[in-house]
Amino acid sequence: MHLTKEEERIYEGEEGWTKKKAMEILVAIGDINNASKLIRIKSAHISGASYKTIGDAFEFINSLEGTVRVKSTLNPIGMDIEKRNEIGLSRAFANKQKEVLEAYKKLGISAECTCVPYLTGPMPKRGEHLAWAESSAVLYANSVLGARTNMEGAPSALAAALIGKTPLYGLHQPENREPGIRVCVKCDLVDADYSALGFLIGNRIGNKIPLVELPPSSVPNKDELKHLSAAIGATGSVGMYHIKGITPEADAIGLPAETIKIEKGDVKKFYEVNEEADVIAIGCPHCSSLELQRIYELLRVEGKGRKVRKDFFIFTARAIKQRMQEVVQKIESYGVKVICDTCFVVSPAFERYRCVLTNSGKMQRYVPLLCGGAEVRLCKTEECVRKAF
Ligand code: F3S
Repeated sequence: MHLTKEEERIYEGEEGWTKKKAMEILVAIGDINNASKLIRIKSAHISGASYKTIGDAFEFINSLEGTVRVKSTLNPIGMDIEKRNEIGLSRAFANKQKEVLEAYKKLGISAECTCVPYLTGPMPKRGEHLAWAESSAVLYANSVLGARTNMEGAPSALAAALIGKTPLYGLHQPENREPGIRVCVKCDLVDADYSALGFLIGNRIGNKIPLVELPPSSVPNKDELKHLSAAIGATGSVGMYHIKGITPEADAIGLPAETIKIEKGDVKKFYEVNEEADVIAIGCPHCSSLELQRIYELLRVEGKGRKVRKDFFIFTARAIKQRMQEVVQKIESYGVKVICDTCFVVSPAFERYRCVLTNSGKMQRYVPLLCGGAEVRLCKTEECVRKAF
């Protein structure tokens, strides 16, 4: 990979050990992927922020010096920094988590701690290059916003943030963004159906970028696209999909020859688990303002002044909670807890449940693996709220 004079200087260590290590990581990744050069990025989004997942490996972050060169945000950590007691986390965990957060903050990384940086910070524009590490956000950025990012790992996103650049390969290049498989959806979809669809797509497409063809009556809104992106990211290995009329570059692409079909029965199967849930969790990925508003309206209709009968958690970004303070207060008046900075999957606080009801396909994938073996029941948002009373 070609390096400029300045990049070579960094590689040789003339700007210190931290930048040298970051440059070595980018060069190694670039060489493996036949990248010709490094390109500037507009922002970085870094995962590996929860003490539950990173453990004491964060000591390495502590040893780094200097600051990031581009706007850099952090994925959810292992707790709500204002509600440790309320969610029942040990002081020992909280102290470790605070150390992890401080280590990232010292590098100039914003402690927003959300998986929807496109809803809280500047929204990436079409054609902008990014280095993002949260799969749901990567798919949303590429497929809905038309920005360009590979599915980074925590070390490569951090290295890109420190240098302000990433190797030019993969989804940064238009020729690698072409779809390789058509997914013909033969049924109408709404709400959590998009989670089910994403789950199915991720499982069936291998490493080919899908062109998703929906029936004309199914036009997903931004929140449904967020869930579709998250579920494809959780079950598949591709960093983008195309939907005509949504993906900015989808109108200029050809039709792949290989086709798979998704029928009504495929989607229906997701709702057939009959296990009684002992907790309800919505907000994977973190809820948007609109989702919070909608949940409040559903609570008002279903609750009729009553409190929920089961533990019910809603996860969102702190910036969104602040924007929606009044709605959040009303939601909490029903006994629902609105939690920020963290989520059901990355915090140990939610490992005590047996079966969780959710509208999220990503939770369907990760809760059984990462939350003490709990089961997941997928439900439409409306049904999740109804089951709470
Ligand atoms: Fe976000 Fe946690 Fe889901 S990081 S996408 S809410 S697993």
